[in-house]
Amino acid sequence: MARIGIVTGGGSGLGQSAAVRLAEEGVNIAVVDVNEEGGNETVDMVKKAGADAIFIKADVSNPSDVKQYVDKTVEHFGTIDYFFNNAGISGSGKYFLDTEIEEIEKIVGINLLGALYGVRYVSEVMLKNGGGAIVNTASSAGVIGQDSVVTYSATKHGIIGLTKSMVAEYAKDGLRVNAIAPGPTETPMVKAFYEANPKMKENAAGGIPQKRLGTPEEVAELVAFLLTSKAEYINGEVIRIDGGFTNTK
Ligand SMILES: NC(=O)c1ccc[n+]([C@@H]2O[C@H](COP(=O)([O-])OP(=O)(O)OC[C@H]3O[C@@H](n4cnc5c(N)ncnc54)[C@H](O)[C@@H]3O)[C@@H](O)[C@H]2O)c1
Repeated sequence: MARIGIVTGGGSGLGQSAAVRLAEEGVNIAVVDVNEEGGNETVDMVKKAGADAIFIKADVSNPSDVKQYVDKTVEHFGTIDYFFNNAGISGSGKYFLDTEIEEIEKIVGINLLGALYGVRYVSEVMLKNGGGAIVNTASSAGVIGQDSVVTYSATKHGIIGLTKSMVAEYAKDGLRVNAIAPGPTETPMVKAFYEANPKMKENAAGGIPQKRLGTPEEVAELVAFLLTSKAEYINGEVIRIDGGFTNTK
């Protein structure tokens, strides 16, 4: 029987690539995003790859939207086997003391609360149905400290705490929860961030031992591996995928 996956932030970047990669493994996908156009584009791509897909418009920072995307997925597909908990924003790149409170609340609301709500409602369904696998998107900034991204870094460190502690509570019941920590990867989010902060772009590739950014396809490969049964005994891990970047810090 086909497996069912939810991908948040599925309308662009890492989410879009992972949705397509999972579709190649025969996984049917609920694509969740605030961006309708991007989400529908991903649905078409998943269908071209040979799996079924629906788009669900939802803001992950709103708990009732989160409950709604979980309910709609179960209504349509019957269950949830895989969850790529990935929607996120980077913020303006300002130093912390120049950052408005509204921006801090927005980043925490989407990146951390959104991820917590997602795990809260999705794992409830998974545990009722005998288990499942979750991959949370952290970041290099969730593993090391970095300037210009203090709030973002705080949320991504939080994602790692969420990952490890869920395993402590629910691995015995059949839940696997891992996190990925990508370094700078060529997605629309990163392009926009570097356009606004050109100095950081100059430094980025140069500071990576492999001297290039990652690609969404490389990250999608890791996500598909971690979610599917190939990684059955990997639990509570944070896998860095960053060309050696955090290894040298
Ligand atoms: N690209 C990188 O270099 C990089 C590195 C490390 C971690 N990450 C993380 O990867 C994840 C995906 O980033 P990306 O680079 O693919 O970015 P992206 O901007 O290309 O895609 C993010 C998607 O999330 C959606 N989204 C934003 N806010 C939302 C909300 N409130 N509710 C629902 N959907 C929302 C956007 O509409 C977009 O489609 C993020 O969590 C990001 O922090 C990215």
